[in-house]
Amino acid sequence: MSGPSLPPPSNLALPATIHRVPIGNGRRLTVREIGSGLPIVFLHGFPLDHSMWAGQWPLATAGGILAGRVRLVAPDLAGFGGSDGPATGSIAAMAEDVVAMLDGLGIQERVVVCGLSMGGYVAQHLAVSHADRLAGLVLVDTKLEADTPEARAARADLSERVGRVGTRIAAEAMVPRLLASGPGAAVDRGLAGRIAVEERLRRTIEASPVATIQTALAALADRPDMVAAAASLDLPTLLVVGADDTITPPECLVRAGATIVGSSLAVVPRCGHMTPLEDPAAFNALLAAFLQERSLTAAR
Ligand code: MLT
Repeated sequence: MSGPSLPPPSNLALPATIHRVPIGNGRRLTVREIGSGLPIVFLHGFPLDHSMWAGQWPLATAGGILAGRVRLVAPDLAGFGGSDGPATGSIAAMAEDVVAMLDGLGIQERVVVCGLSMGGYVAQHLAVSHADRLAGLVLVDTKLEADTPEARAARADLSERVGRVGTRIAAEAMVPRLLASGPGAAVDRGLAGRIAVEERLRRTIEASPVATIQTALAALADRPDMVAAAASLDLPTLLVVGADDTITPPECLVRAGATIVGSSLAVVPRCGHMTPLEDPAAFNALLAAFLQERSLTAAR
C-alpha cells in the first residue's frame, strides 16, 4: 500500500479557471473551478482559503479518478484569500453568499457541498436552508454543536490579541493545532513534508486581513446549534474526521453520524484537523466511493 502524499505546491498550477463572481453589495468571490460534471463545492476552514483543497484538484484533472465526472468549485469565502471583503458576519449569511456564487456561475443543478470545519458549518446551513440545491453533503473535521461559553471566551480573547498584535498571533495559535503530530503522522510521510505545509498554512493565515479574522471569530462564536436541524436532513451525507483531530475530535463526528439519518462516517488514521490536506489520497478515495455508492456520479 502506498503512503499518503501531500499535494505538492505545483497542484496549484494544474489547469483551472479562476472566476470573480459577484455576490451582491459590490463584493466578488474568487473561485477556482476544475473539470466538468457533477458540481462539488469545497468550502475552506478558518482562516484559510481555497488553496487548502489543492490535494483534491487531481480528482478532476486528466487521469484523475473522477475526471470527466465532477466539476470542482472552490471559492474563497468573502474577505478570505483573493475574495473581496468585508467578511460576512454570520455562518448563515456565508451560506447565502455560496448560493449567490452558484447563481453567479449559472449552476442551477444540484451540487454536492463539501465543507471543512468552518466550511462545514456553512455547508450545514446550506443543507438545512437550501436542501433543494444539494445532491449530497460532505462534512469534514467539523461539528454540529454550538460553541461552549469557554470556546466563545477563547475566540474573544484571540480576536482582541489579533487586533492588538496582528494576524501573526492567529497563526501562532492555530498552526500547531491543525496537523496530526504522532508517530507516522500523514503529514510527515507526505511529499511536501510538515515544515512546508505548516509554512503554507502560516502564510495563508498571516495574509488574512485582521478584520476578516475578527468578523469570522464572532460569526463562529455566534453560530447556532445545528443538532435539531440536522436530525431532519434527508440527503446522502458523508462524515470524515482525522483520528487525531484535537479541534473537532472524532466524537463530534460520531455524534453527527448518530444525528444525520443514513450518513456514513470515516475516521482517517494519522490525520488531524486538515484531513483532505494531510492525506489527500485517503480523502479522495473516500469521496469517490461515496459519490459512486450513493449514485451521485456514474460508475466507471
Ligand atoms: C476551522 O478550522 O474552520 C476552525 O477551527 C473552526 C472552529 O474553530 O470552530
